[in-house]
Amino acid sequence: MCGIVGYIGSREAYPILINGLRRLEYRGYDSAGVALVDGSGSLNVFKCKGKVADLEKFTEGKDISGTVGIAHTRWATHGEPNDVNAHPHYSGSGNIAMIHNGIIENYSVVREALSEHGFTFRSATDTEVLVQLIEYIRDSNQCSLLEAVRTALKQVVGAYAIVVVEKDNPDEVIAARKSSPLVVGIGDGEYFLASDATPIVEYTDKVVYVGDGEIAHIRRGGELKIVNLDNEESEIDIRKLELSINQLEKGGYPHFMLKEIHEQPRTIVDCTRGRISPDGRDVILSGVIANKDKFLGARRIIIVACGTSWHAALIGERAIEEMCRIPVEVEYSSEFRYKNPVLSPDDVVIAISQSGETADTLAAVELARGAGAFIFGICNVVGSSIARATDSGAYIHVGPEIGVASTKAFTGQVTVLTMLALALAKEKGTIDRAKFETVARGLLDMPALIDKVLAQDEKIRDLSKIFTYAHNFIYLGRGYNYPAALEGALKLKEISYIHAEGYPAAEMKHGPIALIDSEMPVVAIAPDDQIYEKTVSNIQEIKARNGKIIAVVSEGNTAIHSMADYCIEVPATPECLSPIVVSVPLQLLAYYIAVNKGRDVDQPRNLAKSVTVE
Ligand code: AGP
Repeated sequence: MCGIVGYIGSREAYPILINGLRRLEYRGYDSAGVALVDGSGSLNVFKCKGKVADLEKFTEGKDISGTVGIAHTRWATHGEPNDVNAHPHYSGSGNIAMIHNGIIENYSVVREALSEHGFTFRSATDTEVLVQLIEYIRDSNQCSLLEAVRTALKQVVGAYAIVVVEKDNPDEVIAARKSSPLVVGIGDGEYFLASDATPIVEYTDKVVYVGDGEIAHIRRGGELKIVNLDNEESEIDIRKLELSINQLEKGGYPHFMLKEIHEQPRTIVDCTRGRISPDGRDVILSGVIANKDKFLGARRIIIVACGTSWHAALIGERAIEEMCRIPVEVEYSSEFRYKNPVLSPDDVVIAISQSGETADTLAAVELARGAGAFIFGICNVVGSSIARATDSGAYIHVGPEIGVASTKAFTGQVTVLTMLALALAKEKGTIDRAKFETVARGLLDMPALIDKVLAQDEKIRDLSKIFTYAHNFIYLGRGYNYPAALEGALKLKEISYIHAEGYPAAEMKHGPIALIDSEMPVVAIAPDDQIYEKTVSNIQEIKARNGKIIAVVSEGNTAIHSMADYCIEVPATPECLSPIVVSVPLQLLAYYIAVNKGRDVDQPRNLAKSVTVE
């Protein structure tokens, strides 16, 4: 996600801002920028696509003076990564500059309204709409910058952490947040602002965490003031920073992977934001609805992907076939691209890729394009090669995934695939309203359900100690949870280096059951669903051969305790959503076993975050 840095004080701002951006590089970004107010009435904005080092080159020889300024690393959500869309964005007059982390959901409505007042826009971003709205209010109401920001924020819907500066006002900085984090560092006659404390900790250990719906008003040499959107003043709660920079980059977690596992309640919110109506009666995936004829008229849908994304594809296959009654085939990208597939313009190809740079999936997309198929992308990195190579798509909006082992991206992919199936089934009339709303509301409830599973973190960490020295694992699941078994096995093997295999539970009888003995741990995924009894039979078959069973079951399932050696309970969900809630404990189990074995969890041996070669 984006990174924010601000400064006001007696020192030159530029070096502090650039250093702060470097501290935030770990968050992942595609462009960077800085705005400086130099006190002689000029507001200088420098920004470009690329890295912080590129920004520094870009500002060489330019006027970078000023003791108040803002800086930003952009993780694109609206609009391609390029110089124009980079932050800071500034108002039409050039008098106000702003940086933003988050998504303004109703930005197109606001943009439309401003356009009717003659406003024009340089960029495709939601951020520019907000800064133009602030100037519009400031000029129309002849009010203070603080008042203009407060009024504007009452008109927008979505998530934001913003910092605003004004050309003729070198003694003031306004910042505000809703859902996206914002920290104010209190120095000696100077203030620092940032998305997290990483850029601040080397200057001061006194910080104030701006609360949701609050605005921080900072005046040079004055006291920090915090108000809410109704202009009611809040208490200033100064905290002392205890964490090191390294710990701060990981949000206090020991590894990015654990941080990203625990981010999933929020990333599911980000993924569904603006896409499921609060009452669960509607799903709005604009890329799907705009191309519904392609999907509904398709001879079949082919999903191409690799690794974890391929597991998500298997879940999407079930959901689309079950809800939309459209034939779906799932292909490994690497196999698809060389099999001379039978393809036609009546086919729809969905490409799933977190990085959007996987060479095999990109090649599969190009092959599909050559055959005239309609191509839909489900990516995380905005503006990535695969995202740009498709006809349309839906981003999963889970923010940068730093850990090589995919976690939040997987649950984000499954969430988008489920929303796609719901939207198409509704259009096609192949789903009844009750089922539609049950699943849609299930997605809205998912963050709370994942929170309940994450509350078992310590229990799963203790369980992991029993299996630190296992040499093999088998993961079993049926139906929607067969891909969950594959994903659980992949998580374990790729970070702990223990061999693990995912299998359809019923397939055990056809050979693999020969592997079962007291040395073979078996993860059996058996939530309450229509095939639960069948899976229990498989568990009993394994028990009879002394297999060590870790059962993942629905809350309150006491019967399983007589069969399984260990139980992990997960909240009940609609069947098609159970892979989301089931995968979280399996991510934790793999993580803690790998930690017990002293593995490099975030950067496992031999692996890359994005396989950009064949
Ligand atoms: C998942 O934990 C792995 N890191 C890997 O299998 C990954 O899912 C695969 O390389 C596909 O990557 P993509 O989603 O970026 O295309």
